[in-house]
Amino acid sequence: MTGKVLVVDDDASVQRLLQQTLQHEGYEVQLASDGPDALRQWQQEPPALILLDTTVAGLDGYEVATRIRAEEGPGRHVPIIMLTTDRDVQGKVRALRAGADDYLIKPFHPAELSARMKSLIARFGSSNSLVGRPPMGRIHAYYGAKGGVGTTTIAINAAIALKELGRRVVLVDGNLQFGDHRVFLDLGLDRKSIVDLVSAPSMDADLVKSIVQPHDSGVELLLAPPSPEAADLVTPAHLHQILELLAGLYDYVIVDIDKRLEDRNLMVLDVAETIFAVMTADLSCLKNVRLLLETIGHLGYEQNKLKLVLNRSNAFTGISTKSAEGALRRPIEFQVVNEYRGAISALNTGSPFMLSKADSVLGRSVADFARAVDKGAAQGAGLLAPAASRS
Ligand SMILES: Nc1ncnc2c1ncn2[C@@H]1O[C@H](COP(=O)(O)OP(=O)(O)OP(=O)(O)O)[C@@H](O)[C@H]1O
Ligand SMILES: [Mg+2]
Repeated sequence: MTGKVLVVDDDASVQRLLQQTLQHEGYEVQLASDGPDALRQWQQEPPALILLDTTVAGLDGYEVATRIRAEEGPGRHVPIIMLTTDRDVQGKVRALRAGADDYLIKPFHPAELSARMKSLIARFGSSNSLVGRPPMGRIHAYYGAKGGVGTTTIAINAAIALKELGRRVVLVDGNLQFGDHRVFLDLGLDRKSIVDLVSAPSMDADLVKSIVQPHDSGVELLLAPPSPEAADLVTPAHLHQILELLAGLYDYVIVDIDKRLEDRNLMVLDVAETIFAVMTADLSCLKNVRLLLETIGHLGYEQNKLKLVLNRSNAFTGISTKSAEGALRRPIEFQVVNEYRGAISALNTGSPFMLSKADSVLGRSVADFARAVDKGAAQGAGLLAPAASRS
């Protein structure tokens, strides 16, 4: 059983259709035909999620959502998807203002409903169950020593693996001009981004929560702007503030950045607790890692703030791990195996291998990496690692 869903709709044929679809997906379904009945059922026992039609009698959907949000205790949050026939922006805004987490315009495809429900349940189910424990607030920068070495691949899949360990994870696309998390995760340009955050008159945790985007994995996303020119709106000071706010909400704030040592990236490196420098065993990468090591020294950071991650570790490059370590005069802490097909097909389908092929060689390699990362971070926070797996 996947959980109980309260369906609030006064149209019997819609009720029947939703009931069949949801039961087929393994949900237990409860029905309410009007607003007061919906509130009563929620008060008796909050479901895992509410599907709420906007036009039900008694109290309409907007009023029901508003009441629930006003009456919910601290740390509780029942996910609400508003069902509406209203296509214009005002209707959507009204639903979100009333406290809905998402909305669907009728008629919708069952697959879309199912995907949105899963992502909301993963998002709020785990945060509700973790209420009481403060977030670990670890900021981890994933820095690509060179373009195309696999930084985004590792950042995204490590984020999912950490989520699977029961952690609350937000993934930030710090490649502000040409970020490609929307491509890797099959998300449209209409999704909110960091630009919506920095354009607001002031930033706080509630605003951040309304801008991060849920992913089916349960990882939340702060996306890069939809177009490169908007990246200029984000300043280093913004990034500092955003990362601090995220650290107050999540166990891990994973920031994917590229090799440029310019102001914004330097701010991310500065605020990060750990920098994972992703590299491959080739000469230009080794040269860049050496420059990064020097920069770290100039900036006065502890050398152990930086960890090296050798990606595609078993690919033939003519330079072995040992000789790379010799050239850098330091150890390489982590390795991720080479599996081009697995990596590229995940990219092309928009479904990360850690979700669709966690059991592949590549999936297991990144999962091992994430477990080692979590072990170090959790011990530092005085927590047991790893946390309970998500069911
Ligand atoms: N472990 C791996 N084995 C095989 N191929 C990989 C691996 N990791 C990444 N790749 C492939 O390398 C390519 C580049 O990956 P990715 O976009 O993650 O790198 P990046 O460093 O973030 O690049 P960019 O500089 O564009 O941001 C992709 O085609 C990806 O599928
Ligand atoms: Mg990248």
